[in-house]
Amino acid sequence: MKRPFVVAANWKMYKGPSEATAYLQEFLSHATTVPQTVSQTNKMNKVLFLVPAIDLWVVSQTLQGTAIGWGAQNCHFEKQGAFTGENSPAVIAELRTPYTLVGHSERRAIFGENDEMIAKKVRALQDVGIEPMLCVGETLAQREAGQTGDVIREQLREGLKLRVESKPFMVAYEPVWAIGTGKVASPQQANEAHQILRAELRHIGGDALAQSTPILYGGSVKPDNSAELAAQSEIDGFLVGGASLQVDSFLALARTKK
Ligand code: PGA
Repeated sequence: MKRPFVVAANWKMYKGPSEATAYLQEFLSHATTVPQTVSQTNKMNKVLFLVPAIDLWVVSQTLQGTAIGWGAQNCHFEKQGAFTGENSPAVIAELRTPYTLVGHSERRAIFGENDEMIAKKVRALQDVGIEPMLCVGETLAQREAGQTGDVIREQLREGLKLRVESKPFMVAYEPVWAIGTGKVASPQQANEAHQILRAELRHIGGDALAQSTPILYGGSVKPDNSAELAAQSEIDGFLVGGASLQVDSFLALARTKK
């Protein structure tokens, strides 16, 4: 089965509504007619923007009807309630949001999210019709201790344990030591981790699940290292932080050839 090649921008806590609109208008001026899947005639992949929650309204207005997707970077797992400062998956869905990131390492490390919460978020998003992108990845200490496989397998298994079997999701492998550091995983290191994750997906849901679920690589992806990464058999796309903040560099990544 041919999986789509997915290029996702993670804007983190950058860009307010006006900057987001100006950026997307420029991006769209280069990409308006792009279909959401790889095709021979245009050289673009499935592209999406994961934006600060406060930008979601304007981003959804700007991207609706185009081939480009959008999503939040986090959500709460309850639909509503006394959760000051949180964003409801139901409200995110009201903006017809197709995707949302879950379990980014910054959420895990800085905001104390654990696998239990992440599993509930995956389920909550699927329940309102949003496709979650579940992030997993080891720290440098875990890699040096030879624990990479165990860590990412467990994060994947735990994060998916409440999922709805019939609904799609994506996985992003982001080694923590490669995020925002300029230190990209070697194509072999990344591919090995993706193989481990694909095998675990097979274990969790059989071959069809393993073959149809895109596994993206994230961590210092830039136009000058993307070709080598994309050439790896198990890499089905990129989750891009720093290099997604400028239209030029993200457009170059969105046009990655697989
Ligand atoms: P980076 O971030 O591309 O700046 O390393 C990736 C991410 O955190 O998703």
